[in-house]
Amino acid sequence: MSQTWIILGATSTIARAFARLLAARGHSLVLAGRDQNELQIIAEDCKIRGAEQAEAVPFDARDAKTFDPILAQAEQCAGDVCVAVFVGSMPPQDEIDQDPSLIDGTVTDSFTGPAQFLTAIAPVLEQKGKGTVIGVGSVAGDRGRLGNYVYGAAKAGFHTYLSGLRNRLGRSGVHVVTVKPGTVDTAMTWGMDKLPFLAQPEKVAGDILKAADKKKDTLYTPFIWWPVMTVIRSIPEHVFKKLKI
Ligand SMILES: NC(=O)c1ccc[n+]([C@@H]2O[C@H](COP(=O)([O-])OP(=O)(O)OC[C@H]3O[C@@H](n4cnc5c(N)ncnc54)[C@H](OP(=O)(O)O)[C@@H]3O)[C@@H](O)[C@H]2O)c1
Repeated sequence: MSQTWIILGATSTIARAFARLLAARGHSLVLAGRDQNELQIIAEDCKIRGAEQAEAVPFDARDAKTFDPILAQAEQCAGDVCVAVFVGSMPPQDEIDQDPSLIDGTVTDSFTGPAQFLTAIAPVLEQKGKGTVIGVGSVAGDRGRLGNYVYGAAKAGFHTYLSGLRNRLGRSGVHVVTVKPGTVDTAMTWGMDKLPFLAQPEKVAGDILKAADKKKDTLYTPFIWWPVMTVIRSIPEHVFKKLKI
């Protein structure tokens, strides 16, 4: 049975690499995001690479009205429906410190907007009784760090949401994968220096697809971030609060 993948934030550098892998498998793609011109280019590329269908659709995590046409499309879809969320934004922490009103948008992009969409589509997935949901969080959500704790807090909320969604949808045969990338060479990290273990988006996209195939619950990608975050999570708070990592 063919799969239709709804990709939220499909202009993301990692999402583009992921869409190319899905296209090579011949799946249908709903490429959702804000920049329709760019999405159209990605759709054409995916069709050339083997996607059964690929179309660009508007999606803005800050505007729930954009969710409805995608939800209606999922309801009409005859085959399996899968969803992958790549949406996220990370304003520099010092800009947020100067302008706390930036917190709302950061949390909406990285947590509540996608969570609202996933909650709305959950009954459709439950009725189909199969499919996969992929939510891209971040290692930043594992511990509040000096350099990005608002973004990290949004991702932590998204991780907890995905854990609950996995518990709910697993009862109907739908699998939820939580992805925690480390630092990845994308538009989000452009211009930042001294990024540890910087990974290429193609590597991360491949790891995500493998994790979905194997029905993993949580993926640290690249794998080095699993031991690194195990250590970081174990540091006592009275020590951690003095570190600048
Ligand atoms: N790069 C890293 O080091 C890293 C590490 C850990 C986790 N992640 C996560 O990986 C995911 C993909 O990010 P990336 O690294 O590929 O960076 P990216 O290229 O900057 O992608 C971010 C995506 O989020 C979309 N987006 C932001 N706000 C949105 C909104 N309100 N509505 C709809 N779309 C919105 C962007 O759309 P536009 O093109 O319209 O701006 C873009 O497609 C994100 O969730 C990010 O938090 C990245």
